[in-house]
Amino acid sequence: MCQCEANDLEKIDAIVGRIGADATRAIPVLQEIQKEFHYIPLKAIERIAATTEMTESQLYGVATFYSQFRLSPVGEKIIRVCHGTACHVGGAEGLTEALEARLGIKNGETTADMKYTLESVACLGCCSLAPVVMAGDKTYGKLDRKKVARIIDDLEGGGESR
Ligand code: FES
Repeated sequence: MCQCEANDLEKIDAIVGRIGADATRAIPVLQEIQKEFHYIPLKAIERIAATTEMTESQLYGVATFYSQFRLSPVGEKIIRVCHGTACHVGGAEGLTEALEARLGIKNGETTADMKYTLESVACLGCCSLAPVVMAGDKTYGKLDRKKVARIIDDLEGGGESR
């Protein structure tokens, strides 16, 4: 996504202008950058460091310390397979395997067309529906290997993104 064209640099500058340029604003600035690009592009860190009081090492420090930040691009839609206890017992491993086969990627990877990222997450908070998968902002429960592949069909049919 962001190879940081002029347009992207303008977006980065606008975020910094809105949130603030001093070092105490590093977290909210990076949060907004991630909201815009869905990860923290290297070029964004370089741009922020070049135009504010924040240094590249400070920004990297923050971006790598907090697990909320991603330093590599993700797909348009993120598919999160719950591997919490109830879902693990209910067959989460099989759901991940079925999705890996359907998407042609391994857990943690993104499809080559940048459409989907597959991840494992901890309890999604709806254990009574175990095993559970969240795709975009939709939650799917009581899944099995067959049903889980239909999630992709649902997304291809115009499901919500991220
Ligand atoms: S363990 Fe999966 S939703 Fe709680």
